[in-house]
Amino acid sequence: MREFDEKSITRAVIERLSECSDPRFKSVMTSLVTHLHDFVREVQLTEAEWVTAIQFLTDVGKTCTDQRQEFILLSDTLGVSVLVITLNHPADQGSAESTVLGPFYWEGAPDLPRGSNLAKGVEGEPAFYSGRVLGADGLPLENALLDIWSGNGDGYYDMQLPEETGMKARGKIRTDAEGRYWFRSIRPTFYAVPTDGPVGRMLRKMGRHPYRPGHIHMIVSAAGYLPVTTHLFIAGSDYLDSDAVFGVKESLVAQFDRHVPGIGPEGERVDTPFYTVNYDFRLRPAAAGGA
Ligand SMILES: [Fe+2]
Repeated sequence: MREFDEKSITRAVIERLSECSDPRFKSVMTSLVTHLHDFVREVQLTEAEWVTAIQFLTDVGKTCTDQRQEFILLSDTLGVSVLVITLNHPADQGSAESTVLGPFYWEGAPDLPRGSNLAKGVEGEPAFYSGRVLGADGLPLENALLDIWSGNGDGYYDMQLPEETGMKARGKIRTDAEGRYWFRSIRPTFYAVPTDGPVGRMLRKMGRHPYRPGHIHMIVSAAGYLPVTTHLFIAGSDYLDSDAVFGVKESLVAQFDRHVPGIGPEGERVDTPFYTVNYDFRLRPAAAGGA
């Protein structure tokens, strides 16, 4: 029989991986056990704190549903999501930068013609989005896909609203032969990440605010190119300097120009003030590496 002290226990757990046939899994688990044990030793974790941690992770799991992902929110608010993204999608050659997917992506948004209003019936200030999707060489990419989603003008996503049963402020738009896209939606406002669950309790205990600056989400993809999961952030929005999920990148902050009521960029009458924004996304060829 072997007994373990507070040091030898780590070595013993790692030794049990000796028969593991997956080298990557073995390497990751060895590191995880090493850091986890070091963490427990460093903070001299009490039994009560360990129980609290187990209960917290249990609550995070129980809070997840088909339309709510509390573990992604936990990863986001601890900066792990951005760390993984930054490691795997280094900014280079002017290609569009990636940022967090966030917990509100909903697979299967409708394919819509260019120029469509994604936010029909959604409260918020109208905004007209346009730009191009380009290859690394600057050539326009035809038929590139923008999978777009945002909250409403109050900062809530459709899946957060009990009265909403379908998708709102979501859609897929494809580029034309010149790589151009354009569509109408709203200018999203800053919002709080969900605070009614265990991650909200964690943020309050940490003394942190839960707000994200105004942004619209997009996954931009094209055949033969690496897709980019990203946002456009609204220049001047509150919380650009203290995003609760650390997702802001300077290159993704876009100027939204305000216009008085009148004729919109697609010739339609707009009875309220509206905004226009133009942004080009540059993608890296898939052969250039990365995942
Ligand atoms: Fe968001």
